[in-house]
Amino acid sequence: MISMRHVDKHFGELHVLRDITLEIPRGQVVVVLGPSGSGKSTLCRTINRLEPIDSGEIYVDGEQLPEEGRALASLRAEVGMVFQSFNLFSHKTILDNVTLAPTKVRRLSRDEAKKNALALLERVGIAGQKDKYPAQLSGGQQQRVAIARSLAMNPKVMLFDEPTSALDPEMVNEVLDVMVSLAKEGMTMVCVTHEMGFARRAADRVIFMDNGAVVEDSDPESFFTAPKSERAKDFLGKILGH
Ligand SMILES: Nc1ncnc2c1ncn2[C@@H]1O[C@H](COP(=O)(O)OP(=O)(O)OP(=O)(O)O)[C@@H](O)[C@H]1O
Ligand SMILES: [Mg+2]
Repeated sequence: MISMRHVDKHFGELHVLRDITLEIPRGQVVVVLGPSGSGKSTLCRTINRLEPIDSGEIYVDGEQLPEEGRALASLRAEVGMVFQSFNLFSHKTILDNVTLAPTKVRRLSRDEAKKNALALLERVGIAGQKDKYPAQLSGGQQQRVAIARSLAMNPKVMLFDEPTSALDPEMVNEVLDVMVSLAKEGMTMVCVTHEMGFARRAADRVIFMDNGAVVEDSDPESFFTAPKSERAKDFLGKILGH
């Protein structure tokens, strides 16, 4: 579903992605781990071309990422992304946040978009909040709206970049539960998260990055119980140690 071949990227002098080659099959759930600055967010952002790459190739469902224009807009619609900050439209209701892109980009009728949105809000457990504005919701609820909004475009892939790290601890699980159920339904997912419970429960694969490179690529059980590299051991020691 996602194929990256020899992807390199620099920010000026900084070599932020180093020869990344990854094949992610349909339905696979990948957790990306690594120290701060290792390139995890940049990796995600290249997959829907929020960041252009210097060299290499990226394909989503067999199609190479377009450079720009209409083709890029339609690619973006197929690759949903959820960030740490929810980025909801503050002056629009929850329902309108979820129906906006489907009506504008997918050209769904207002009625059809609304029907889909209500089903999605139900699925993420916040149908009762549909007429409120984002500021009236908790962080965990807002993040679930952000997930519903992405799903409303019927994406082939979902990217999550630390979706729970801005949340109060008691709200983390309600967002992770939605992610776990998506994973179970067969969504192809790339998740940057330090939530080890999620990684163990839902991930098929763990990718550990350091300094712009993929250092380890294995199943969660092997990664957590027997990391191969010193860098991964050191990283796990730090995050599991507290
Ligand atoms: N737009 C940018 N311009 C210049 N440098 C950038 C830009 N975005 C990221 N970087 C740098 O690229 C490197 C990788 O950043 P990235 O955000 O991908 O790391 P990360 O692994 O997601 O880190 P964190 O865990 O802190 O989120 C860092 O050194 C960062 O400072
Ligand atoms: Mg990041």
